[in-house]
Order: sequence, then structure tokens, then C-alpha cells
Amino acid sequence: WAHPNLNVVIAGAPASGKGTQCEKIVAKFGLVHLSTGDMLRAAAADEGNELGQIAKAKMEAGELVPDDLIIGLVAQALNTPECKKKGWLLDGFPRTAAQAHAMSKFFLFPNKCIMLDVPFEVLAERVTGRRLDPETGTIYHLKTKLPYKRDEAGNILQEPLMQDDGNGGKVPVMEEDGVTPKMGDALDEAVMARLTQRGDDTVEALTKRLESFSKNRDAVAAAYSDISIELNGNRAPDAVWADICAYLEKEIPFP
Ligand code: AP5
Repeated sequence: WAHPNLNVVIAGAPASGKGTQCEKIVAKFGLVHLSTGDMLRAAAADEGNELGQIAKAKMEAGELVPDDLIIGLVAQALNTPECKKKGWLLDGFPRTAAQAHAMSKFFLFPNKCIMLDVPFEVLAERVTGRRLDPETGTIYHLKTKLPYKRDEAGNILQEPLMQDDGNGGKVPVMEEDGVTPKMGDALDEAVMARLTQRGDDTVEALTKRLESFSKNRDAVAAAYSDISIELNGNRAPDAVWADICAYLEKEIPFP
């Protein structure tokens, strides 16, 4: 018997932290990350792609893209030698009972499923503050996760904090002694300047996205109840990650 690949589904409400945790899972477990949201946004960015333009209108309105459109895309993306070799991490799919059914029809069986639970009132704050670095794909937040300059070991660099001098220039902020410059985390201005916001990250679109999530959540949970773990996603990202990591390191259940 060959050791089976780790094939993971991660599910949760919009802004529950799926993308944030996927970055960590990929870095540690080397799985192929397939985010249906990212796939659809890439198709939508291509003005000549007819399906992409259907998806774009749906996404901006906060509605789900039709099942038949997304199912074909996912089945094709999972059916690659790389996915078969490394294992996969499916982020944002399946999202309806029909999509879960299609997975088994195509013999695509996850062996682990992570469900992130976050109260609805926390999600609006996360969505409106979210920003994306289009160059690296890293997800930031204007209040809780800003891009900072780091040294080679990954530690955040410190530099003197600056403030407006009232004449259009900048002066350092001083410690109480009036002579020592106050140091703070060094913001990476180049990354800050290129951050983008998603078209569906508005409170109006979020309300609709939450409605369809609530309608479908139980059907998706039921499809994987025998292999899934439900985690409180309303904790610091590292605390959520510690639980995910422990779960993924456990032996893969026998199918
Ligand atoms: P998709 O891109 O999948 O969006 P989503 O499910 O709404 O999820 P998000 O990407 O908004 O959030 P996330 O859970 O990844 O959170 P993140 O880590 O970024 O889908 C978009 C659209 O595509 C859908 O609405 C639909 O139209 C269409 N679509 C996609 N798949 C489909 C399918 N299968 N069928 C039909 N249509 C489909 O975090 C959010 C923010 O919170 C960030 O700023 C982050 O820094 C912050 N944050 C994350 N974790 C924490 C934490 N623990 N504490 C504090 N802040 C945190």
C-alpha cells in the first residue's frame, strides 16, 4: 500500500480565515492550493473569457457562481499529475450539496476537512479591512496585519517613527526625554502602495455572501461529518494554525 496523499477541504464563512490558513498549510505540507475564489477572479480578469464575465457579475453581487460552471473548473484543476503527486488543498469548494455530490461523482475524495467557525459580527470588520498584495498573493488587514519590513530571519525591523511637521514634511517622534527618537515597526511603504481591495469586500455583498453560506453550510458539513474538524476561527491566526497543524499531522483515516 502506498501512503495516501493528504487531500484537504477547508470551509468557512467569507473572511473566516481560509486563505490566511491556506498560506500556512501550503508552506508546511506542500499541498497544491486550489482556491475557487482565486480561480474565478483570474477568469474574471480576462475580458475575453465569457465564463469569467458571468462569474465576475455574480461575485461582485455576492452571489454564488452556478454549480455547473465551477464544478467543471475544479474537476479539471484537480485532475493534474501535480495534484495526484503532492495532494491538494481545496479552499472554497464544495460550497453546496450539489458540489459535494459532484466531488464523489468524479471520485475526488478529501481525507481531511477543516470547518472554521467565526461569529457573523466579526466577519464584517475582517472583510472591510482586508487588502491583497497582487504581487505575492499575501492577505493583509488594515488594522490587524500590515505589511512590515523584515530581516532575513523573518523578524520585523524597527525604525524611527515619523510624524507630519505641519509644513508638508516629516519629523521623528521623540521619546519623553525629547532627544531619543521613538522606534516602531517599519512599515513596508512599497507593499502598502500596491495593496488592492476586492470588488466583493463591501458590507452589502458580504450580507448576500453570508446568506448563501448559512443556507448551504449544514449540507457541506454533513457531506464530510466523518472526517471533519470544527475549529473556532475567532482567535489569533497562530492559535487557529496550531490546531490545524496538529489535526493535519494526525494519521490519515482509512477510507
Ligand atoms: P472566495 O474567494 O472563496 O471568498 P470567501 O469564501 O467569501 O472567502 P474569503 O476569501 O472572503 O475569506 P477567507 O475565509 O479566505 O478569509 P481571509 O483569510 O482572506 O469566493 C469569492 C466568490 O467567488 C464567492 O462569493 C462566489 O461568488 C464565488 N465562488 C467561490 N467559490 C465558489 C463555489 N465553490 N461555488 C460558487 N461560487 C463560488 O481573511 C479575511 C481577513 O481577515 C484578512 O484581512 C485576514 O488578514 C483577516 N484574518 C484572517 N484570519 C484572522 C484571524 N484569525 N484573526 C483576525 N483576523 C484574521
